[in-house]
Amino acid sequence: MDKTDPILITGGTGMVGARLVEQLSADGFSNLLVTTRNDLDLCDEQSVDRWFDQHRPRYAFLIAAKVGGIAANIADPTAFLSDNLKIVVNQLGACHRVGVEKVLLLGSTCIYPRECPQPMKEEYLLDGPLEPTNEGYALAKIAGLRLAQAYQKQHGMKCVLPMPCNIYGTNDHFDLSRCHVLSALVKRFSDAVTDGADEVVLWGSGIARREFIHVDDVVDGMLHLFENAENGEIVNLGPGTDVSISELAGMIAEETGFVGNISWDTSRPDGMLRKCTDNTRLSQLGFRTKIALRDGIRRTILQYKQICQASISDATGATAQTTTRRVA
Ligand SMILES: NC(=O)c1ccc[n+]([C@@H]2O[C@H](COP(=O)([O-])OP(=O)(O)OC[C@H]3O[C@@H](n4cnc5c(N)ncnc54)[C@H](OP(=O)(O)O)[C@@H]3O)[C@@H](O)[C@H]2O)c1
Repeated sequence: MDKTDPILITGGTGMVGARLVEQLSADGFSNLLVTTRNDLDLCDEQSVDRWFDQHRPRYAFLIAAKVGGIAANIADPTAFLSDNLKIVVNQLGACHRVGVEKVLLLGSTCIYPRECPQPMKEEYLLDGPLEPTNEGYALAKIAGLRLAQAYQKQHGMKCVLPMPCNIYGTNDHFDLSRCHVLSALVKRFSDAVTDGADEVVLWGSGIARREFIHVDDVVDGMLHLFENAENGEIVNLGPGTDVSISELAGMIAEETGFVGNISWDTSRPDGMLRKCTDNTRLSQLGFRTKIALRDGIRRTILQYKQICQASISDATGATAQTTTRRVA
């Protein structure tokens, strides 16, 4: 990519999109086309076509999606399937129509079957039924990656298809109605310490195992793959190691200074029992994550504290020291 090439980034207000924009700007790319839902609703085909005709990007990072945790997925499966299908079909169709040279479409490891062997290899895709709690979101992701591969095979549009595991970090949501597990735990334990609570009750049994990647590693990985992977294969993007939710809760409790009791609401679903990627393909392409989980947790706790501090400053009329995207 040349520094002056027009580069589209969708989902620029989101956790991943915002960090990608920051990184590309810092790297000297001066012609970034960053869309937000306010200026372009990606579910609206006509608006998407008009936007592409007007701006004609050379490269595209398609990051936008309707994203949410297990509760949000269960509450609104229709929108997770329907919106995400529209977003991906509209974006890829427009990229092809205006001749975008290379497209990165961000996927997710939720594409793999519920019962697939662990760690999950890329070839396990479509080997069995999906996890029902986020089936709609996963189906839309699978349709998207297959559509991208079809554009590459049939029309030569180069596609880069990273499949990140659970992402956390800078600019994550802390809104319990839709946030992901790590930021939810940071909020729950930090608030418990602030409130002097002696118990935190968490969803599920704690035995489910998950793999986490810091958003800075996601951005580095996407940029690395954009330069080094263009054969249209999917590539897992993660550290290749997992922790149980109960171990994660223990780490976050320790880092926040929570010394009370952790109990588990086993009436709530665990989701897939284990989700850990095999990252051999990623390693072969020359990329490895850098931010250790405990370090990332410390950074996330610090960010949450800054958000809370800024809210207090706002509420008291003082000037906020930290700007944040969303606060629950
Ligand atoms: N977070 C994770 O753990 C995780 C894991 C694996 C893969 N991913 C993938 O990573 C990508 C980014 O996720 P994220 O965590 O950064 O999510 P996020 O913070 O919720 O950001 C999603 C972005 O997409 C935009 N968007 C959603 N619907 C849109 C629409 N109809 N039109 C235009 N923009 C729309 C959002 O705009 P608004 O701000 O206006 O809603 C936001 O900018 C997604 O493709 C997701 O599937 C995420």
